[in-house]
Amino acid sequence: MRRHFLSVDDLSPTELADLLALAGRVKSEPGDYTTAMAGKAVALIFEKPSTRTRVSFEIAVVSAGGHPVVLSGQELQLGRGETIEDTGRVLSRYVDAIVLRTFEQERLEILARAASVPVVNSLSDFEHPCQCLADLLTVIEHRGPLAGKTLTYLGDGNNVAHSLLLGGAKSGMRVRCATPPGFEPIPQVVRRAEEIAAESGGAIEIVHDPVEAATGADVLYTDVWASMGQEAEADERALVFPIFQLNQKLVDAADDDVLVLHCLPAHRGQEITGEVIDGPHSAVWDQAENRMHTQKALLLRLFGLA
Ligand code: CP
Ligand code: NVA
Repeated sequence: MRRHFLSVDDLSPTELADLLALAGRVKSEPGDYTTAMAGKAVALIFEKPSTRTRVSFEIAVVSAGGHPVVLSGQELQLGRGETIEDTGRVLSRYVDAIVLRTFEQERLEILARAASVPVVNSLSDFEHPCQCLADLLTVIEHRGPLAGKTLTYLGDGNNVAHSLLLGGAKSGMRVRCATPPGFEPIPQVVRRAEEIAAESGGAIEIVHDPVEAATGADVLYTDVWASMGQEAEADERALVFPIFQLNQKLVDAADDDVLVLHCLPAHRGQEITGEVIDGPHSAVWDQAENRMHTQKALLLRLFGLA
C-alpha cells in the first residue's frame, strides 16, 4: 500500500477490497482494536467545516488507543501564512499521520511531499476518498458483493462523484453519473475510471437524463448541488439541478430493492426529498457511521498495524 491516501486511486483494487474487509472486522469486533493505535498521534486539520469527518476520525483514533489532535486551519500559523510544507515538516516531528481537509488537491500533494508521515485526504475540491470507503462498505453490508452492481450518482460531478467513479470502477461496479450539461465529472477522472473499469469488468456511464440513469439502479446516490467553496454559485445551480433531485419518482424507476445513499450533510427538499432520505431504502445513517470504521481500518493499514 502507498504511504499516503490522497485519492481512491492510491489503492489497487485488491488493496481496496482488503481494506473494506478489514473495516468490516474493525466494525464487528471493536474490542480487538482498542489498543491497536497505542502511542500513535494523528493531526486532523480542517480548512473547511465538518461534522462527520471530524468526529468520526477523532473517535476512530481514540477508540483504537491513539491520540487525535484536531486543528482548524485558521487557528494554526497556516492561517497566518506559514507554508503547508513547513507545517508538514513540523507536524511530522510530533505526530504519526496528518489528515487534511482542504481546497485544492495540490495542497495535499505538497503536504505529502514535505511530510515524513502518511497524509490522508479528508476532502478536497477534487476527491473525497474517505467518504468512498464508507459508501462501498455500506453497499456491501446492505446488498452484498459490489461487482456487477449499478450505482447511479445524481447531481454535481464533484469530489464525491470523482471518488465514487474510481472506487466503483475498482470494485467492478457500473457507475452511472447523471449531471446537468456542464457539471460532468472532470474528463481526466472519467478516463481513469474507464481504464480501471476495462480491467475490473465494471463500466462508466456519464449521462444527462436522471430517469434513464436511475432505471434499474441498485444504488442511488446524491450530494449537494453547491459544494463548500461554491456558495456564490448556489442560486444559479438551483436553476439547473432540480430534475436531478433524488425523489420518489427516481426511487420508483430504480431496482425494487434500491439502496439510497447521501454523503451528508443533506439539503432536504433540494438534492433529496425528506421522504426518500427518511424512507425504507435509505441507509444514510449507517453510511455516516461507517466513516468511523473505515477510517480506523485505513489508519491501521497506513501504520502497518493490521
Ligand atoms: N460527509 C462528510 O464528509 O461530512 P462532513 O462535511 O460533516 O465531514
Ligand atoms: N461535495 C460536498 C461534500 C461534503 C461532504 C462538498 O465538498 O461540500
